[in-house]
Order: sequence, then structure tokens, then C-alpha cells
Amino acid sequence: MKHLFGLLTIGVVLGLAGCLNQNEHNPWMNDKEILDLIQQMTLEEKIGQMQQINGFGGEIPEHLKQDVIDGKIGSILNEVNVKTINEIQRIALEESRLGIPVIIGRDVIHGFKTVFPIPLGQAATWNPEVVKAGARVAAKEAWSSGVNWTFAPMIDISRDARWGRIAESCGEDPYLTSVMGVAMVEGFQGDDLSADGSILACAKHFAGYGAAEGGRDYNTTLIPEGELRNIYLKSFQAVEEAGAGSFMSGFNDLNGVPASGNEFLLRKVLRNEWNFEGFVVSDWASITEMITHGYVADEKNAAEKAIKAGVDMEMATTSYKTYLQELIDEGRIDEELLDEAVYRILKIKFDLGLFNNPYVKEEDQNQFALPEYLETAKEAAIQSMVLLKNEKSILPLTNEVGKVALIGPMANQKYEQLGTWIFDGDSDLSITPLEALQLELGDNKVLFAEGLSYTRSKDKAGFAQAVTAAKQADVVVMCLGEESILSGEAHCRASLDLPGAQNELIEEVAKAGKPIVLVVMAGRPLAIGAVSKHVDAVLYSFHPGTMGGPALAELLLGVSNPSGKLPVTFPKSAGQIPIYYNHKNTGRPVDKASWTCIDDIPLNTFQTSLGNTSHYLDLGFDPLYPFGFGLSYTTFEYKDLKIETPKVKLDDDVIASVTLENTGNFIGEEVVQLYVRDLVGSVTRPVKELKAFQRVQLKPGESKKITFKINTSELAFFNNEMKEVTEPGEFHLWIGGSSNADLQASFIIE
Ligand code: NOJ
Repeated sequence: MKHLFGLLTIGVVLGLAGCLNQNEHNPWMNDKEILDLIQQMTLEEKIGQMQQINGFGGEIPEHLKQDVIDGKIGSILNEVNVKTINEIQRIALEESRLGIPVIIGRDVIHGFKTVFPIPLGQAATWNPEVVKAGARVAAKEAWSSGVNWTFAPMIDISRDARWGRIAESCGEDPYLTSVMGVAMVEGFQGDDLSADGSILACAKHFAGYGAAEGGRDYNTTLIPEGELRNIYLKSFQAVEEAGAGSFMSGFNDLNGVPASGNEFLLRKVLRNEWNFEGFVVSDWASITEMITHGYVADEKNAAEKAIKAGVDMEMATTSYKTYLQELIDEGRIDEELLDEAVYRILKIKFDLGLFNNPYVKEEDQNQFALPEYLETAKEAAIQSMVLLKNEKSILPLTNEVGKVALIGPMANQKYEQLGTWIFDGDSDLSITPLEALQLELGDNKVLFAEGLSYTRSKDKAGFAQAVTAAKQADVVVMCLGEESILSGEAHCRASLDLPGAQNELIEEVAKAGKPIVLVVMAGRPLAIGAVSKHVDAVLYSFHPGTMGGPALAELLLGVSNPSGKLPVTFPKSAGQIPIYYNHKNTGRPVDKASWTCIDDIPLNTFQTSLGNTSHYLDLGFDPLYPFGFGLSYTTFEYKDLKIETPKVKLDDDVIASVTLENTGNFIGEEVVQLYVRDLVGSVTRPVKELKAFQRVQLKPGESKKITFKINTSELAFFNNEMKEVTEPGEFHLWIGGSSNADLQASFIIE
């Protein structure tokens, strides 16, 4: 996707006139076929390409047919009827003047009919191959419905569990999010965008959207440029380099300028610095919402700001359609800005092969939930579940497990286990934990009681039945959490507690005195610290998708071994937010030895006697669970950390190794994580940064030397001059099984 030379800056006069082979000021606009086509287009047809309208479901209204014939529609979102789509494409190709196809977009976020774990769960696999395979399945199913373009991956860095859209994200870390985002792009787009089963990816929401104030969706984001570049833009740059063909501008205002009118983001960074050649679509109405933001007075100004900033296509609203012509006539914008946008859009349509064949053949249509797709979804779900606690190795349940009481409002909810953003998800395909356990163990061994009919319920009428089931069983599995609607877009929560009377349900069931395994199906980290003391094991499954039940059953029964790791820090309570592992040290980091809990502070304590360090008196300094954490049924020991290159020069590789041994009784997979700290920087550096990881499988008793190679360029950061630099000096390096890894060594960059 790279072009050869420097790019336009706003105000440079672009020009197609008289130059059919290459655009004078945009050398990357050099496809003769596209330039020829643009030369033939009327202004109205150009503006048409920049308009995305919402779908209509089934029958195509006459006025829309006419709009397609007139070349007034470049894209349609939310249309998934393959026959309708084929017909629209036929009209566009055969009946419109220039035969330009339409591009069909859809939110295919974590699966189409076959639903995969929510992206946050997928990130917990720390397995890009599994994530890529999931995106491939989603692409194939969506493609077979006529969809050409998904609005994914969502790669907003999310440090706030209150924010509902954390469910759609890959969590808090720029490196992990980059790896996962790239895997998704590769899965969606395949090796060849025009191949059957490939669809266009869209990196969203550009940019900073995850930093919404207070975790309230759509809220203001204030991110200093250095932080923006070091944390929030990394994943976007990674997927741009991986060839993501489109970007979506966010709803948020970033440092006072809405993302959809933000020249810094869309023109300076995305186009001029990264040389992005795909196109930018606005988020739904995010151009006209700049009026509500108080950034522009009216739609005409909104259209002007957005086109100048670099939004090529307008989603849902019609400010471009209504005002671009006028803005050109008044000399406020140059028509060449439109040519650039149209070029970008047409280029992608050519790349997708839509000009040649936009149709889905009869035999390829509606290919859903094939056995191999379901298997891929099951594997993703298995690897996405994170074992957080397993006292006395209660898990896995042995073959001789007697009766299992399966309790809780999420144990048999085909729809709710799918999570947010499943517009096309088929909940009939879902296999619930109840169904899967009954299948594995036989009906008579599974005693089912909901306890609560849904997670927010406060009606305790079902408690007695749940307690009875627990008393009759040998072990209790409780499936609790949040319904799908409690996370996702606009669905933010101020509290991270289990909703409804679920805490009380655990407390009541615990009185039966049976071992309890808590399974949490949720769209965000929940503050389960207080209740987890009543249970023996915790398996955090996020919303696991279609195959959540079988995946869970395999893990509970030891057919598979948990290997997921947290992609985000779990706070003890919402009051600790923001809390993330790659924080700064501050001048007064917490002194763990001298921290005094609020309950232990004597009366009349002298003000400074507790020390003055950065922590909460009531919640301390640690999160509930750290980033990267996750247990296995086996145990792993890390030893012999060695830096083979204790002194390196700039641009050299740092080589570090560790020996990992499986010291337990099960075959298992461990995600070996490497973190570094740059001890002194011209800008203060985080206390730890994830730089690499590897998934390693070991048999009991087996050990293996794991080696990492990191180039010093990967240790670069943006300094206060906004230059990306690796600064010489001393670095600490850790390798271990979570961000709390304690095996540490040092190296120096000379
Ligand atoms: C709004 C959401 O923010 C975005 O993520 C989504 O792709 C669009 N709506 C289209 O549905």
C-alpha cells in the first residue's frame, strides 16, 4: 500500500487535468484506468462515490435503484441479503453510466453467523494464528452473503473497563493490540483482496476513542501528542503497514478537534507520515456530529472540515452530497480533493475485483457454520478463557466427577453468550454450557438451576432451587456475568460489580459447602475479587461465542488445558481506574513494604507517618489481576534468564533467553512474555513494556530454551520533539508468564 514519493499537504494544488498517466502532485495516483474513469465522471458522480447509505433490507426501493443508476451511491452498509446485493451490483454495473460497483459494508466484528469470542476474548488467546483463522471464517461467511467490507478490526487502546467498547478491543497494550489487529486484517483480507472469501478490513476508530473521559462512550479525549503516538497510534500504524485498506474516523474529539475533522490525524499522520493509500470512512454521522461537538456551525462547514481533513466517504449522513458542489462553486474547496478521495475509493473497488465480478455465485451463497468453522470457533473460545484461580487444583474435574450442579443466569443463554456486535450472529447455532455438559456427562449428572433468570435480576426466588442443586452435587459450576447488552457501543457501566443479585447468589450457594468453579461470561473485566473468595476456581470466559459451551466443557473436564492470558489489567474496583501495567513510575512510587491499609491506621496518626507514596489507602496499589496473567492446569517454571548481548549498539539486536520447564502433570501451553524498561529517558518511560511473546507447548517434565531477538529500534519512543528515537542507556528486561514477571536482567545500549 505504499506510494513512492512524498504526499500532498493541504493547499497543494492537485490536478488530474491533462495528465492521464499520473497525477502531478500525487505520484501514487498513477493507475491509468482509475484516472481515466475519474476524468469521465461528473461532479455528481464523484460525490456519489463518497456517499455511504444505510441498507434497506430485502426489496430495493425504486428511488434507490434510480440513485444507483445515477451513480449517486458509492457504498451501502447493513445490507446482507445476497440476492438483493447481487441485484444492486448488477444495476450498478449494467445500468449506471460508468458501471462502477457499490461496496457493501457491515460490522463483522467477531464472526458473522458463526460467532467467535468477543475481540477482548480473542486477544486473551495471545495467539495471532487463532485470531487470523477466526477473521478468515468471518470473512468467508460474510462474503458468501455479498459483504465486501467489514468495519473491523477495532484497535482502540482501552484502559478503562467501564467503557462498554472495551469488549470490542484487544485491551490495553499497544504491542498486543498491534499483533492482534494485524492478524485480523490478514484474516479478513487474505493474500488477495479480490479472491473469493476476502473482504476489506477497516481500522477503527481513528484515533484515541478508547480514552473517553470517565469511560463514558463518545466522550472527550485529551491525549498529549507523545502519549498518542507512543500508545494510541501504534496499533493503527501496524495495521496500516499490514495493508488495512480502510480506516474509520472516530466519534471523539481529540484535544478539542473531532476526529472526523482532524487534519492532524487524517492528513498529517495517516497520509503524510504513514503514506496510507486506502480510504477513510467517517463513523456513523460523525461528520455532522461535529456541529453538536460545537466545532462547526452547520452541515456545510462540517463537510468542508471533513473533506479537508481527509474523510473520503461519509457514513449515513449526507453533508457531502448536499454541500460539496456548493463548496467547490464558492472556491472553499478544490475539486481535486474529491478526485483524491474518489481515486482512493475506486482503487479499493478495483483491488476487491468488484469491477470484474461483484457477484456471489449461487453455489457460494450463504455458506455458514460449516463444521470446520465451528471447530475454529471452539478452538478460539478454548484459548480465550483465562484461568484466574484454581485452589487445590480443583480443576480439571476428573472423569470420576460425580454430580455437577450447573447454576447461574448465563449457563443456558444461547444469545447472551455471543456478546456485543453480532448483527448476523445466529444464536440457534450456540451451544450453551448446559447443553455441552449434558452431552459430555449425561443428563442425569447435571443438575441445572438458573438461580436468577438473567444477570441483572434481583429476584431471589430461584435461590432455594440453586442451593438444593448444590447440596445434591459433588461440585458446583456457576455461570455468571453480564448479558450482551451490558457492554459494547454506548453500554458503559460506572460499577464493575457482577450485576443484579449474583454476588448474593454465590454467597448462598457457597453455604452448601461444595467446591465451586466460577465461570464469568462478560464483555469487560469485572471486579470479582470479593466473591472469588467464596469459590475455589475462576475461569474467565468473556463472551465466548457460538461454541462457548463445548469450549468450556473441554476445559472443565480437562480435555483441554487453559492457556489464555489477560489482555487487560483487572481492577479491584472501578475506583482504581485508570490502572494499567505500563504506567509511569512517578517520583514517589508505592513502597509496598510501608503501605498501611485504611483498616490498620491508628487513630491520631501523624500526617506523614504513613509515607507519601502513590497508592490508595483502601485499595492499595495492586490490581485484582495483572495484565498478562493466566494459570494453567500444569505449572511452569522460568529459570536461567540470560541476556546474550549485554551491551549493544543502536540498530543491533538484543538477544535474551530463558528456560521454561513444565513442572506439573499436564501437557500445557504457556505464553512466554518479554517486557523491558528503559531506565532513563528524555521523556519518562513506562515501568514495563511488552515487547514480544511466544506460545510454547510443553509436556510434563519437558523444558525448553526460549530465545527472543529484539532490535533496538523496537525500543524507540516519541520524544518531546516528536522524533522517534531509541536512547542509549541501561534497560531492564523481564521474561515470565505475566506482567508481574520477576526474573530480570539488564542490558545497555551504548
Ligand atoms: C458506529 C460504530 O462506532 C462503528 O464502530 C460502526 O462500525 C458503525 N456505527 C457502523 O455500524
